[in-house]
Amino acid sequence: MKICMIGAGYVGLVSAACFSDFGWTVNCVDNDPSRLAALKAGQSPIYEPGLEALMERNVKAGRLVFTDDLKTSVANADVVFLAVGTPMRRGDGYADLSYVFSAVEETAQYLDGFTVITTKSTVPVGTSREIERRLKAKRPDADVAVCSNPEFLREGSAIQDFTHPDRVLVGTDDPRARDVMERLYKPLALRGSPVMFVERESAELAKYAANAFLALKISFINEIADVCEAVGADVQEVASAIGRDRRIGDKFLHPGPGYGGSCFPKDVSALVRTAREARAPVSIIEQVERVNHERKLAMAVRIEAAAGGSVRGKTVAILGVTFKPNTDDMRDAPSLLIVPMLQERGATVRACDPQGRKQAEPMLPGVTWCESADEAATGADVLVIVTEWNEYRALNLEAIKSRMSGSTIVDLRNVLDPAAVRELGIAYTGIGRGRHTASQKSG
Ligand code: NAD
Ligand code: UGA
Repeated sequence: MKICMIGAGYVGLVSAACFSDFGWTVNCVDNDPSRLAALKAGQSPIYEPGLEALMERNVKAGRLVFTDDLKTSVANADVVFLAVGTPMRRGDGYADLSYVFSAVEETAQYLDGFTVITTKSTVPVGTSREIERRLKAKRPDADVAVCSNPEFLREGSAIQDFTHPDRVLVGTDDPRARDVMERLYKPLALRGSPVMFVERESAELAKYAANAFLALKISFINEIADVCEAVGADVQEVASAIGRDRRIGDKFLHPGPGYGGSCFPKDVSALVRTAREARAPVSIIEQVERVNHERKLAMAVRIEAAAGGSVRGKTVAILGVTFKPNTDDMRDAPSLLIVPMLQERGATVRACDPQGRKQAEPMLPGVTWCESADEAATGADVLVIVTEWNEYRALNLEAIKSRMSGSTIVDLRNVLDPAAVRELGIAYTGIGRGRHTASQKSG
């Protein structure tokens, strides 16, 4: 099976590496010259655990090639994947499909023999049909079938997610395309992952519905956390109790500073706009979008309150700036709203992140960047855990305290034990932790 993967980002690169590891031959094409140069030198341009080793193994075996030769890659391919970005369009919040359509235009000219073209990118309902229309207009002679094959992997655990998916979803009504996609995913089917064939529109919408539902679940538990604070309950106990109910499930019930990342914010926004346009508004999801934005801003206010009502003239240490741990991705990270708001209110911000600094530095001007949590804590009045990197779960709090000027910790991910923090004479603020949510120093 020969694959052409267009786009070597978080999804394209991981998919290309995993498909090649199944034994397929993959040409991975990217039009960003610096990205391609890094890939050819054996370096992953993104931080994703395990990815470089997987790339190396398959490049060595000759199954994975990084190239800008779209012509040969498309002409030889049984399947062409479109894995380019579909960011939020400026101004109106719809999905920006310009990268998808320009990749389609480029691909059209090189098609040779029966080829399946499939979206891996998250695209609104109707996009596969529109791709087909554009291909037919440009190459009426081409023998193609356009499928939808949305990807459900998460950054930070992308390889595990790709190779052990809850399901593979393929939208197609073409029997030849179905046969190709069945063969392509056979290695996963043999391991027990269901490969589902559905209408193209269903596949396209299912991707948005899944992300919107997960975003809803996070906003739900964030609001329950607020209720816990008001009434003295502990959100972790509540989440664990409701999560045991299999109809609810225990995943995605961690409260925090609001969801971020390259997908939930833009996909929720796109679904809201698509649904409005289709005159079937998703009012619950519209609320989720609003609630999540306000949540991020409320976190800055919470930090101010923990600092005694004002951060003016104070130093705040921020641990973790990426939208989640185990990635260097800064897209729509809560830190991008929280940090500037603290700065506007007069705080000096020191920050550290195990992988995010390179992307974050130009996005967060005025921040003093540090190599470690210890360094960030030095001279800080308040220390805030924004992203739950593992190393922030096991902080040496005594050492941290001795370096700080103040003694206040705000734990936006509930990774610390409030009682243990308080025992050291540090004031602790968590999320939804009932009587532990905000505490005065005990020592
Ligand atoms: P990304 O920005 O990391 O990568 C996109 C890549 O495509 C870039 O390297 C870019 O240079 C390249 N590209 C753009 N136009 C091109 C062209 N015409 N020819 C060749 N290369 C081109 O994006 P991503 O995070 O990988 O997301 C890609 C798509 O997958 C999006 O639709 C996203 O919603 C979806 N998705 C992402 C994730 C995730 O965790 N990031 C998970 C599931 C689905
Ligand atoms: C998410 C989905 O989980 C993937 O299934 C999907 O493929 C992907 O979006 C996509 O379409 O791109 P990802 O954004 O990589 O994956 O990361 P998640 O683990 O879902 O986290 C997203 C955000 O929600 C993060 O900011 C995270 O901190 C937050 N979150 C997650 C919570 O606040 N609480 C939780 O319980 C879970």
